[in-house]
Amino acid sequence: MNGGESRFEWTAEELRTVGHQVVDLVVEHLTGLRDEPVFRPVPQTVVRGFETEAVPQDGAPVDAVLGEFAARVEPWPFGNGHPRFYGWVNPPPHPLGVFAELLVAAMNPSVAGGNHAAVHVERQVVRWFAELAGLPGTAHGLLVSGGSAATLTGLAVARHRAALRAGRPVREDGVQAGAGGPAAARFVVYQGTEGHGSARKAAELLGIGSGNVRVVGSDDGHRIRVPALRDAIAADVRAGHVPVAVLASAGTVNTGAVDDLAAIGDVCAEFGVWLHVDAAYGGPAVLLLPRFAAVRAALGRADSVALDPHKWLYAPVDAGLVLFRDGAPARDAFSLVPPYLRTDDDPAGVGGPVWFSEYGFEQTRPFRALKVWMLLKHLGVRGYRELIEHDLAVADRIAAAVAAAPELQLLARGLSVVCFRCRPPGGPDGEELDELNRRVLRAVQLGGGAFLAGTTVDGVFALRACVVNPRATAGDADALVAQVRAGLAADGAPGRAGQADQAGEAR
Ligand SMILES: Cc1ncc(COP(=O)(O)O)c(C=O)c1O
Repeated sequence: MNGGESRFEWTAEELRTVGHQVVDLVVEHLTGLRDEPVFRPVPQTVVRGFETEAVPQDGAPVDAVLGEFAARVEPWPFGNGHPRFYGWVNPPPHPLGVFAELLVAAMNPSVAGGNHAAVHVERQVVRWFAELAGLPGTAHGLLVSGGSAATLTGLAVARHRAALRAGRPVREDGVQAGAGGPAAARFVVYQGTEGHGSARKAAELLGIGSGNVRVVGSDDGHRIRVPALRDAIAADVRAGHVPVAVLASAGTVNTGAVDDLAAIGDVCAEFGVWLHVDAAYGGPAVLLLPRFAAVRAALGRADSVALDPHKWLYAPVDAGLVLFRDGAPARDAFSLVPPYLRTDDDPAGVGGPVWFSEYGFEQTRPFRALKVWMLLKHLGVRGYRELIEHDLAVADRIAAAVAAAPELQLLARGLSVVCFRCRPPGGPDGEELDELNRRVLRAVQLGGGAFLAGTTVDGVFALRACVVNPRATAGDADALVAQVRAGLAADGAPGRAGQADQAGEAR
């Protein structure tokens, strides 16, 4: 263990020694974060080290490798483990999830399929979430790398179904076969202005093309305008195009808006169009909190759902989930089984249930389900409810502090997202105001005292806080707003007298 030897077998004692060292590193990292800046860029000297270091020819002792992790990697995290991180949709990992990953790596199965425990754990996780989502007994699904992969997978199945109905065998012909050439019938999908970019990527990858993503306008609440959606589908049907899917959101990334899934479901049913709901972010709140019962009931009408345990269920990255209302079309869309792998349902044998690899594009698949399974067993629905309610309360607190500050303007508030901007009385407007907010955002992010992201809301640049962080206290929420006010004061914009001290105190 002390030399860079190529020995593969470790004794129990060696495993324990290194295991304890690793656990110590985990403990130091998780407990030490609060005392460190939320974020700091990796110093250029360290970056240059990564860029120039040669491929190791001789191995180094384990102690040295762990020491390098401690010196060159651990000090510059992404930031999302910190109680004051409110950027994008990246939570701190639940500690049990961290340890679950170690167990997964020790077992190291491929969950392509088979009759080993990981397969059954994943099937159970899928069944639990399908039940929580109100999907019928025909439902199936699989864990994937995240929301992007979940939407790509759901949309692939939607495209397959729509193509078959249109007499276009897309698995054999690809998207080349539109009778009459490129100007003929087009596959089209529908998304709101606030829909996630991963849907557009998926449309491009599937040959639908981003030019055939109809972007439907939003209402005042940043939700898809359903009459406009209906008009768009009707126009495409009249023109002979093939509507593939509506991509609705249960929690947009920008503002946390939840589309009117019931009304959208009606439109999809009217035209026989696939409904994919991107609940990658908002899904856990919708599935678990009583106040979202109506949304949940409508979600149960979806043909496919994306829901990310690595977002608001605090599982370590990666863990996305795609659910299908009916597993059969998904198998039709993906199953490509060479004879040496083919196993039909073989419950008592080596094959086990029909393989997961027949329902998606990954063959070798990691055991993503264990951390999700362990966390749901440990926290239960009730425990999760409490954590999510906590996040919503922290978001409320941020929104209230923003509303109370004369130089801040609340721009949007949905689920645990708060969008706002600095708008000092008598200060600049238009592009200049956007620039001011960009500078403040950068100052806050680099200041290390709190972290939030930027976005555009209704055409203006906004600061965006997304609370998926049970580590955040009320004081942390106050500190975020104080940091923004301090950033504005330091920028020298008018209307800021006397706020910097307050910001300092809250830190
Ligand atoms: C609403 C929504 N959909 C999809 C995604 C993409 O998920 P992933 O980054 O896990 O691929 C995100 C990511 O933040 C999201 O918030």
